[in-house]
Amino acid sequence: MAVRPILHYPDPRLREPGKTVTDFGPELQELVSDMAETMYAAPGVGLAATQIGVDQRVFIVDTATGDDEPSDLRVFVNPEIVELNGEILFNEGCLSFPGATEEIERAERVKVKAQNEKGEAFELEADGLLAVAIQHENDHLDGKLMIDKLGVLRRRYLHRAMIKRR
Ligand code: NI
Repeated sequence: MAVRPILHYPDPRLREPGKTVTDFGPELQELVSDMAETMYAAPGVGLAATQIGVDQRVFIVDTATGDDEPSDLRVFVNPEIVELNGEILFNEGCLSFPGATEEIERAERVKVKAQNEKGEAFELEADGLLAVAIQHENDHLDGKLMIDKLGVLRRRYLHRAMIKRR
């Protein structure tokens, strides 16, 4: 297991969409465990493979953020959001935008189909923070970033703030 470096906006690799995973062998297992270690070290509630420069359709989330809560790691391989319902405004952060939080509109509930790291298919319905995290991470796999969801002024401000931070 290893902590891998997280790409920061505006690294162009964050814009490259992930490819469908077809090999569920040891390399994928290592990727998933490195992603978990990287996410917990940051710390963050979600991480997509594209954020560490791996162009595979894999993301993980763990929304158990309380100190006493047991970890709730969920692995999504080749995810597909099949239903979006309602609306929620959520203050989001992203490990590729260090220090930034932005209020972003998402669906309040999602239904997602995916495979786990063993290749077993599952379906999950989620709401609240978990639903937001799934939408945010799924966007990463298409090269979409939270800055794309902002209005023009806020987008320009965040862009400049990130450039200045480098
Ligand atoms: Ni993110």
